[in-house]
Amino acid sequence: MSKRTISSGQREQLIEAARAAAKKAYAPYSQFRVGAAILTSKGEIFSGCNVENASYGMTNCAERTAIFAAVADSGPKLEIRAVAVLNAKNLPCAPCGACRQVIYEFGPEATIYFPSAQGWKEAHITELLPEGFRLK
Ligand code: THU
Repeated sequence: MSKRTISSGQREQLIEAARAAAKKAYAPYSQFRVGAAILTSKGEIFSGCNVENASYGMTNCAERTAIFAAVADSGPKLEIRAVAVLNAKNLPCAPCGACRQVIYEFGPEATIYFPSAQGWKEAHITELLPEGFRLK
């Protein structure tokens, strides 16, 4: 299996990590508990949940929590190969626009897995975020 290919086992592991993370969400305002997990180029998985705030705009989405946790743990050379995002209500849940830009920063070739109205969907980050912004 090449480094770039994501096996079905890795995909399942990623989704399971996201599911576990959603259970830890702090979402007293929306009751919408989200979990995300990222697979790095080193084959590691980091997960995160949404963390809301009484000042609503301060809320951090699950995807960004997972990405920031990876950088905090392992440093700035993060390369994201894949991301899974889901919510505890099993509702459709594509990453928000802000998170797409943050995923793109570390994973311009990343594959994203998310529940859509038609079931699980797999998309390249550039399908979700065409013309993503870059400085380097
Ligand atoms: N949320 C995420 O965690 N990720 C997304 O991509 C979309 C939205 C969270 C933020 C907020 O806590 C709740 O979902 C409702 O918007």
